[in-house]
Amino acid sequence: MDNLYKKELTEEEFKKFRDYIYKKSGINYTINKKIILQNRIRRRLRDLGLNSYLEYFNLIKNKPIDSPEMIKFFDEVTTNETSFFRHERQFVALKSMIIPELLEIKRNKDLNVWSAAASMGKEAYTISMVLKETVGLHNYKMKILGTDLNNKVLNMAKLGEYDIKDGKDIPREYEKYVIRDKENGILKIKEDLKKMIEFKRFNLKESYSFFPKMDVIFCRNVFIYFEKKTQKEMVDKFYDRLIPGGFFILGHSETLNGVSDKFIYRKFNGENLMIYQKPLK
Ligand SMILES: C[S@@+](CC[C@H](N)C(=O)[O-])C[C@H]1O[C@@H](n2cnc3c(N)ncnc32)[C@H](O)[C@@H]1O
Repeated sequence: MDNLYKKELTEEEFKKFRDYIYKKSGINYTINKKIILQNRIRRRLRDLGLNSYLEYFNLIKNKPIDSPEMIKFFDEVTTNETSFFRHERQFVALKSMIIPELLEIKRNKDLNVWSAAASMGKEAYTISMVLKETVGLHNYKMKILGTDLNNKVLNMAKLGEYDIKDGKDIPREYEKYVIRDKENGILKIKEDLKKMIEFKRFNLKESYSFFPKMDVIFCRNVFIYFEKKTQKEMVDKFYDRLIPGGFFILGHSETLNGVSDKFIYRKFNGENLMIYQKPLK
């Protein structure tokens, strides 16, 4: 690596990038993440052959979020860890509590679920497997929307092909929805699941009003990157997108305590699974 790229991001440069990322996406880079951010920006400098962090900052600072360089920038600065059946108990609750309750209260035969920080699509495909097993038996039109700010992971999601090792978390009863290509080490999602899902780039800082009303929203393991103020703004928008009686699901280390008191907290068999419900009336 060229010496230039060994240069540290100064406090002042860090602040410029941090404020900018926060303003555009809500992601809050705290000072202890300075080195992580520095290494991520360096990759863009290297690809573009630029000489300084400031030069790169000036290049992006007035660009719209959907411009080619901004897409690449946010592909670098987001963290995308995910897995199939992550926090598996939430999917047991989806199957045994949420879906049966929704089938009781729904007046139409459409079911819309949103994976609002979809990353590589493993969450959306997990949801589709559970819906197939449950709602699929009742002749519903099921649609899953998977959105994320990171374009690179969305392309992986659309392809629906993963390292075969990633399939270790898929319970045996759902094995029929995937193909294990052992020779090439690839796990492929079957076409009928892929057809249920639309993946698209979307920034949670924007307005959600053009999305259809949702029955369930998964917003897991992304609130940890946002401040309370940002979480509050987003939760109000999620609330508005849910049908009365619809469910909102967070990651297991996240909470609506101190963020919103509009939802009812729902336990499943006495378990705390960070499942919230919009009141029916
Ligand atoms: C750690 S992953 C969580 C993936 C999945 N929900 C799960 O729990 O396994 C967080 C995702 O949130 C996305 N993200 C971060 N800020 C975002 C924003 N402002 N709008 C949309 N997606 C965002 C990141 O790109 C990343 O893919």
